[in-house]
Amino acid sequence: MSTVPVVFNNTVLRDGHQSLAATRMSTKQMATVAPELDTMGFGSLETWGGATIDAGVRYLSEFPFDRLDALKRLAPKTPQTMLLRGQNIVQYTNFPDDVVEAFVAAAARHGMDIFRVFDALNDLRNIETAIRAVKKAGKHAQGTVCYTTSPVHTPEMLIELGTRIEAMGCDSICIKDMAGLLPPYVAYQIVRGLKTRVKIPVVVHTHETAGFGAAAYYAAVEAGVDRVDTAISPFANGTGQPDTWRMLQALAQHPRRPSYDLAKLSRLRDELTRIYAELSPFTSPRNEVVDNDVLIYQVPGGMLSNFRNQLKEQKMADRFVEVMREMPYVRQCLGWIPLVTPTSQIVGVQAMLNVKFGRWKNFSPEAMKVALGYYGQTPGSIDPEVLALAEKLSGKPRYTGRPADALEPRMPALRAELAQKSLPTDDEHCVIYAMFPREVEKLYQERAGKAAAPVPAVAAAPQPEVKAPEPAQLVIPGTNKKISRLALTIGGKRHQVSVEELG
Ligand code: CO
Repeated sequence: MSTVPVVFNNTVLRDGHQSLAATRMSTKQMATVAPELDTMGFGSLETWGGATIDAGVRYLSEFPFDRLDALKRLAPKTPQTMLLRGQNIVQYTNFPDDVVEAFVAAAARHGMDIFRVFDALNDLRNIETAIRAVKKAGKHAQGTVCYTTSPVHTPEMLIELGTRIEAMGCDSICIKDMAGLLPPYVAYQIVRGLKTRVKIPVVVHTHETAGFGAAAYYAAVEAGVDRVDTAISPFANGTGQPDTWRMLQALAQHPRRPSYDLAKLSRLRDELTRIYAELSPFTSPRNEVVDNDVLIYQVPGGMLSNFRNQLKEQKMADRFVEVMREMPYVRQCLGWIPLVTPTSQIVGVQAMLNVKFGRWKNFSPEAMKVALGYYGQTPGSIDPEVLALAEKLSGKPRYTGRPADALEPRMPALRAELAQKSLPTDDEHCVIYAMFPREVEKLYQERAGKAAAPVPAVAAAPQPEVKAPEPAQLVIPGTNKKISRLALTIGGKRHQVSVEELG
């Protein structure tokens, strides 16, 4: 076996606080740890993307590119990583290629080094534009395989996806286990298979939600993984990544154990503990414990806690087990799509509707879009009866093309709209405004010293054809999870549903 030490990436500044503190760490708070993090010799610092852009512009009055500039100044030595949802950029819906390309080029200009690009369906057509843009900017393109459990997601199938990612010209492959469901031996099989079939480095990303993240990393190290993602307590463990110190101890005496300065780690933990306390309105003991229900129901932990609340609102709290049992059926009908933002919400809502009204008696618009191919190709095939129903209800045949091919370019219109509102019209503002129009306007109103004007009820930006409702976001008391609320009209009746972001 190789004796090359495994490299730890650090996720404190992105997934760490996204998973454990509702993505609320501010740039100012980050500034107190970034210089020291930069001296640790981590493989990379994950600092941007995922939900951080949304939370920054929405709750912290920060323009996202300003944070990136600050972090590049504060931590210039260590390569920085961002999480990019392919054609969704960092939103829930598909954007046209020109917006994706402008976003990547702008992030690269501001110094982003490694772009971890994923698609919720593992449809590689949904990441190819972003990957091409990253390569064009001369940056590191990390293609992602989303891990999920289903009869079609065999280790062999996931390894095959990895070989296709290498063939696309990516510089590395990430196995992304957003739910913390990757069992150690499966981690071993996937990494082993990839290491024998691809030449580019392999990274594993998991969560401690189910309590075996560190064991999965250990198995991946045995199988030859190049890098793993760790965080630093208290922004580690539970729904976050395994803690760096704990992972080092788990690898004691192992020939591949890396070496990181424990005195510095200790100082970082002290400072992060102080920040964690500052963020206490957004942290929760529920995120800090091992959740067995994740294993029982094989769905992401965040989705479970969110669902309990949602069912309560629907006066269906006593039907939790029924809805959970309906989820695999819905997933099977929709081609065994992985459960990650935004597909986790789509499957959950449809399972709830099936239990409440009978199977497919109420077909949610988003589930219908999955069935009709507007999110991309599903890993398994769509149930023929469900597809026939979707075609009949929508009056449209199944779409088999690349989803973004159905979208018109938007950058000229975005620029014109910003000019009309007297806001900056550079690409940075266009791409953030494309995703968060109301928030960008509000930010500038605040900056101009005006009293925060009332937010218009409807987003002014032209929306792409395949669109999700603009979610209003809040934190559910008792869980301190950031969620979005969507309104669905079902049989003429308005229903409110809550969705939660998983990264
Ligand atoms: Co994650």
